[in-house]
Amino acid sequence: MYPIVRREVFSETSFLWEVLAPDVAKSAEPGHFVMARLYEGGERIPLTVADYDRDKGTVTIVVQALGKTTREMRDNYQEGESFDDFVGPLGLPQHIGKAGHVVLVGGGLGVAPVYPQLRAFKAAGNRTTSIMGFRNKDLVFWEDKFARESDQLILCTDDGSYGRPGFVTQALKDVLDNDKPDLVIAIGPLPMMQACVETTRPYGVKTMVSLNTIMVDGTGMCGSCRVTVGGEVKFACVDGPDFDGHQVDFKELHARQKRFKSEEARANEDFAH
Ligand code: FES
Repeated sequence: MYPIVRREVFSETSFLWEVLAPDVAKSAEPGHFVMARLYEGGERIPLTVADYDRDKGTVTIVVQALGKTTREMRDNYQEGESFDDFVGPLGLPQHIGKAGHVVLVGGGLGVAPVYPQLRAFKAAGNRTTSIMGFRNKDLVFWEDKFARESDQLILCTDDGSYGRPGFVTQALKDVLDNDKPDLVIAIGPLPMMQACVETTRPYGVKTMVSLNTIMVDGTGMCGSCRVTVGGEVKFACVDGPDFDGHQVDFKELHARQKRFKSEEARANEDFAH
């Protein structure tokens, strides 16, 4: 059993769990993910590692309650309670080296998995610019954590209720024009990552994206996370989840993401009744 040692609510739909899992914390690296299962017979869901503390033996995940299981996590599990399975770390960690100026872009919940990468790139001696994007002020979280690890922090809201008004891609374009980065990391919803990739493409700046959102079983067995990268078939859960965004076939990914829409809607309805 895995105890939830801390639970923090960011908004109506997003929340954080800090989970006591010393074995996972011991080997977690930026870019890794874990598979969680709440109870016997429950769905196994992939969640990207948002933080880890090897001394405390904890791993932090940030979750958006959109599907059946994530809503159960939000509604039925309080601080101090435990759940069944927390397997990981899985996937390949991000390669953290000395690149120079690294720009890290997080959109919405994608801000959480960006954080361990930001901290690691900073610790490796890079100059870091963070661009955090949220729909509005109420959804903002971890501004303080990002400020600590960033040489420059640009916080954007789509509706202009906080920080710089507009999308992260506009802020990214300004940075590309004025202080060209050596590497960009972009994590968030697929359309946001694709937009970042198209923004950096004309500048020829390598842009890594995280394809955690397309995973289902996370073990290389279901084939759901198949993606074409540079003309080669890859599996996000085994070969990724981080890939060179300029090589990723996003069109194929969009089609795949729509595949489970009706099953997801049915599961959500069952949970609501
Ligand atoms: Fe099923 Fe990768 S998530 S094969």
